[in-house]
Amino acid sequence: MSEWWRDAVIYEVYVRSFADSDGDGVGDLAGIRERLPYLRELGVDGVWLTPFFPSPGADHGYDVSDYTDVDPQFGTLADFDALVGTAHELGLRVMIDLVPNHTSIEHPWFREHPEYYVWADEPNNWLSVFGGPAWTLDEQSGRYYLHLFAPEQPDLDWHNPDVQAEFDAIFKFWLDRGADGIRIDVAHGLFKDPELRDEAEPAPGAELHSFDRRAAIDQPELHPLYHRLRKLVDSYPGDRFLVGEVFFRDPKRVARYVRPDELHLVFNFTLLFTDWESESIRKAVDRTLGSMGEVGASASWVLESHDVTRLPTRYGGGPGGVRRARAALLLQLALPGAAFLYEGQELGLEEAALPDNLRQDPIFFRTGGERLGRDGCRVPIPWNADAPGFGFTSGEPWLPMPSGWGARSVQTQRPDPRSMLGLTRAALASRPHGRFAWVPSPPGTLVFERDDVVCAVNVDGDPLPLPEGDLLLASEPLTDSIPAGAAAWIKIC
Ligand code: NOJ
Repeated sequence: MSEWWRDAVIYEVYVRSFADSDGDGVGDLAGIRERLPYLRELGVDGVWLTPFFPSPGADHGYDVSDYTDVDPQFGTLADFDALVGTAHELGLRVMIDLVPNHTSIEHPWFREHPEYYVWADEPNNWLSVFGGPAWTLDEQSGRYYLHLFAPEQPDLDWHNPDVQAEFDAIFKFWLDRGADGIRIDVAHGLFKDPELRDEAEPAPGAELHSFDRRAAIDQPELHPLYHRLRKLVDSYPGDRFLVGEVFFRDPKRVARYVRPDELHLVFNFTLLFTDWESESIRKAVDRTLGSMGEVGASASWVLESHDVTRLPTRYGGGPGGVRRARAALLLQLALPGAAFLYEGQELGLEEAALPDNLRQDPIFFRTGGERLGRDGCRVPIPWNADAPGFGFTSGEPWLPMPSGWGARSVQTQRPDPRSMLGLTRAALASRPHGRFAWVPSPPGTLVFERDDVVCAVNVDGDPLPLPEGDLLLASEPLTDSIPAGAAAWIKIC
């Protein structure tokens, strides 16, 4: 069995925002299929499709009302089959995104099988990750149902064996259809404390909505479940894989989900929580590699996703933010393990500004606008410089695309090897592999070897003399040193 996924690069497609084939302003499967050669040319190993199942859209697809079909706005099952067929012809794997923690409130199960859900006569003190309480009164039954996310996303009761049987069948349905990988949404949350005990009061300064402080999730029952699902997935030919979204800050806690015979990979979000500051990054890398190494698992690296502010913006915005994001890309792709890229990361897109009346994220509404939410990183990506809708759509994009995005389009960047797109392609074509070791370096810098390649990142230090050897790739043109906010890969002679 090949463990290709250990250092795979998977490209996240936010299905609504990648490519629209029918002009309704919303991306779709046929649009993605047409653009697969672009991903082949970019050099990734596979594509992750965010949920495309029928959904009322309260959380844009993460509220599923039928797990074994395609939402008409995204296409049909035949479109999915065609997409998988083309991807496989191009040598790309396809990872789908299942949401087993909760359904849509419009899933027929909610009325036909209320016993599939978590209920209480009186709510406890649990909070929704999206803001407000995690319980809503169901007028019909007079009882409260649990929703760790929006009220339109009732949580399933995984202690009910029928729920487990339903999902066994759902996993098989998509594996039989040719999915190579399955992302498990909220993988750390499926089982809740069966006694529904109150959570401890948050420590002063603790993030109210974070998963880290919750004792009601991360239950021991998850591990036999993933052991079983691993067996199921491994029984299929073709080296398929499971990736868990396990959202804790502490990589040790996360690593328990990738012990031998559990999930193949987990997202490692430590770099999402880390500023552009050398010692914090070094610590995040060490803690990740240490925790994953202890259980024999491969690390993974995430800088962007559909849930977080775009990297150049997190790193200060403007040309400085984009420079740092370019350097961070060389860091991400040189670290040992798998990497997840988010659509538009390769274009250096910044968070898009949006007027409040166009925002759609339930986080914005449930926090009364206190948290802006995730719409700004979900704006469709620009393909062409001048076409209306920047080649994403022939209609009106579902979120407005900033007027300056033509300059960041694929069409504009493609011919320019110095563009972010050019850098990403070059980095994917020459990713270093092999033994990892830190090399002592001055304050503010991070230098490590992967076999005979040195990756040198000057985060915020004095200019770092270029290490000896052949310069393979740099985040910007360099002379004899690497300035703060730049990075380079050098082959040791
Ligand atoms: C994690 C997903 O990435 C996010 O977009 C979604 O809102 C929540 N899970 C709930 O499904």
